[in-house]
Amino acid sequence: MPPVTPDAPGEGTPRGTAAGKAGRWGSLARQALAGERESRGAPGSRATMCELYSKQDTLALRRKHIGPSCKVFFAADPIKIVRAQGQYMFDERGEQYLDCINNVAHVGHCHPEVVTAALKQMELLNTNSRFLHDNIVEYARRLSATLPETLSVCYFTNSGSEANDLALRLARQFRGHQDVITLDHAYHGHLSSLIEISPYKFRKGKDVKKEFVHVAPTPDTYRGKYREDHADPAGAYADEVKKIIEEAHNSGRKIAAFIAESMQSCGGQIIPPAGYFQKVAEYVHRAGGVFIADEVQVGFGRVGKHFWSFQMHGEDFVPDIVTMGKPMGNGHPMACVVTTKEIAEAFSSSGMEYFNTYGGNPVSSAIGLAVLNVIESEDLQGNATRVGDYLTELLNKQKAKHTLIGDIRGIGLFIGIDLVKDQQKRTPATDEAQHVIYKMKEKQVLLSADGPHRNVLKIKPPMCFTEEDAKFMVDQLDEILTVVEEAIGARSESVTSENTPCRTKAPDQLTRPLTTAHESIHMLTSLLLYTPSG
Ligand SMILES: Cc1ncc(COP(=O)(O)O)c(C=O)c1O
Repeated sequence: MPPVTPDAPGEGTPRGTAAGKAGRWGSLARQALAGERESRGAPGSRATMCELYSKQDTLALRRKHIGPSCKVFFAADPIKIVRAQGQYMFDERGEQYLDCINNVAHVGHCHPEVVTAALKQMELLNTNSRFLHDNIVEYARRLSATLPETLSVCYFTNSGSEANDLALRLARQFRGHQDVITLDHAYHGHLSSLIEISPYKFRKGKDVKKEFVHVAPTPDTYRGKYREDHADPAGAYADEVKKIIEEAHNSGRKIAAFIAESMQSCGGQIIPPAGYFQKVAEYVHRAGGVFIADEVQVGFGRVGKHFWSFQMHGEDFVPDIVTMGKPMGNGHPMACVVTTKEIAEAFSSSGMEYFNTYGGNPVSSAIGLAVLNVIESEDLQGNATRVGDYLTELLNKQKAKHTLIGDIRGIGLFIGIDLVKDQQKRTPATDEAQHVIYKMKEKQVLLSADGPHRNVLKIKPPMCFTEEDAKFMVDQLDEILTVVEEAIGARSESVTSENTPCRTKAPDQLTRPLTTAHESIHMLTSLLLYTPSG
């Protein structure tokens, strides 16, 4: 479908008339609210009215005015998204995409209850938290009620990075220790203080690891140091942390905190083995440090059975500090640090005020409350369990069928598909994973590939994802993997006869040009610039 307007404005020229940006956006907003200019024939084509520039011009302006390190999804062929609803996103032509990656639009893109809560409070008041207001206290009360009793003091921020930065300050103030233990491949935010503790970032850049940072191996029982065949992987991984603490002490250093995501997301959808966190917490506490659980990606019921992912580890595990963000405002920038009274009091004993202009403002708090209400009223945790189980079951059937799938891991609506070139060696299938996400995009399914080898397909959709969506996604994946495996099989057969997976070819597959997929894998990979961290 062609772009909305036939004229191709020069770079920097807004679409439409001389009415100017303000007038145009004003009328666009009115049209949007009134639901005018409905369908142009294709589903979701109301999207077309939201364009200010043609896609080409948007791209040109972006190249000119947005920093080159801000990457786009699908760099070789970016998508322009102008509208979204529930678990679907729409491009400028009104094409619908199934969103399998957006854990920020937690209760569904543009959920009407969340939008209404924001609008209503915007009309009434928005200001900082130095004035007494009910929204912030009500929201803090409701958030605390989702956590173990000891976690009852909240500090509101505007992003997950701010939350983790503040968590580090709390931890360091608590006992005056400085050092931080982090997990390999972890990502905790974009601030300088967090790049320092994010191997996912500093190992890719020119930064070197700071001496107060200690990197423990990721408790990955599929590709890590201790695997599923180890008698006690949780104990073995926790012993690595113990060793780090001992070495730090021997060098006269003191541990302020251990920080980890309750399930590692950018690191490759890793679920720590049961008992690991308890043991680590014991060693860290003994060293006078605190345990920070980063729930920025994985909180708010994504795992289904529990509201917070760390709760999967049992009631005997309670972190000292929990950070949260992304899903909290369903797209509105808000985040939070929750901690114990003891740690909060130690923080305030420094005499320094904590002030954050926007943190916990009445609008953000109203939005946060609406998100909590929707999670409850629509039973989104129950949905995450039901749809997540169904999706995992479908994917496990695919695993039995496709040699490229090495591992399916996950819980609720947080699932990883680990693609491998070799089942025995578990060699990451990086090129193939990149190829698959581009092909899925062609089929209008949005997925990303992440992990240290960028071979893990990440699934973390809005929580309103349905069984129908799951089936559709898996059917598309099945088709793509079949073609890719055919191509790889063709290549392997010509090189080596032994390790080639033996698969009966369907007649239509035999007529396909088998080199196409393989060639395009390499072509696309060389074009890829996108570095995910979301
Ligand atoms: C685990 C984790 N922590 C913290 C952050 C930082 O959050 P934000 O981008 O809101 O600053 C991210 C962002 O991707 C994240 O994945």
